[in-house]
Amino acid sequence: MDIIYASNPESVGQVAARLIAREILVKPDLVLGLATGSTPIPTYRYLVRLFGEGLISFAKVRTFNLDEYVGLSSTHSQSYAYFMNEHLWGKVDLPRCNADIPSGTAPDIQAECQRYETAIKNAGGIDLQILGLGPNGHIGFNEPSHDLAIRTHLVDLTEATINANARFFDNAGEVPRQAITMGVGTIMQARKILLIVTGDKKRDILQQSLFGPVIPEVPASILRFHPYLTVVTDINLTSACP
Ligand code: GLP
Repeated sequence: MDIIYASNPESVGQVAARLIAREILVKPDLVLGLATGSTPIPTYRYLVRLFGEGLISFAKVRTFNLDEYVGLSSTHSQSYAYFMNEHLWGKVDLPRCNADIPSGTAPDIQAECQRYETAIKNAGGIDLQILGLGPNGHIGFNEPSHDLAIRTHLVDLTEATINANARFFDNAGEVPRQAITMGVGTIMQARKILLIVTGDKKRDILQQSLFGPVIPEVPASILRFHPYLTVVTDINLTSACP
């Protein structure tokens, strides 16, 4: 595990974007796993800037998003498809048909989960997966639990996540109660993982994830078993356990 410290969320975004850009330069047809949430916004902004400066192209890149809310169409302003379009897809030369995300309005959710797994497999697997960290330690929408689902699946969101994500909606009552998310097995099969975490309020959960016990109650802790995990953060982790 590599931990790269940066001084603030903007610098974290710059560092993360450069790491992603490097992967695209080495492999122009990179299969890139994307994350949503407020944390990766600066990363996407710098990627868009690097594209604008002519340094990278997404013309051959394929992307797969981690998750999507059930019940929100891609035109809903709080759907993750809409978010991606606002922050990345719509601002670079990524062919829209190369950007995949679970459909939150699929009539058959189980079939949609299966479709998604097959699409990732057919793309040759994910080369680099970007991850944020939920305040409760979730990755994608893999919530703290006694066991972790391996593949893309339907998940009931916890009250903690509904409340944490309510800031993006008019009120907590509007936050969808379910989502489709890649499972931890799908995430862990990515060849490289880039975990981006900013803000002091995530200090404890990041500390637990990186240096506490590996337990399903802290889903991100499983990332420690990944052979190529890079963490970019502005949180000064002072007390790494032995
Ligand atoms: C959502 C997403 C996660 C993301 C998390 C953190 O719950 N499903 O993938 O990591 O938000 O969001 P933020 O970066 O806004 O703290």
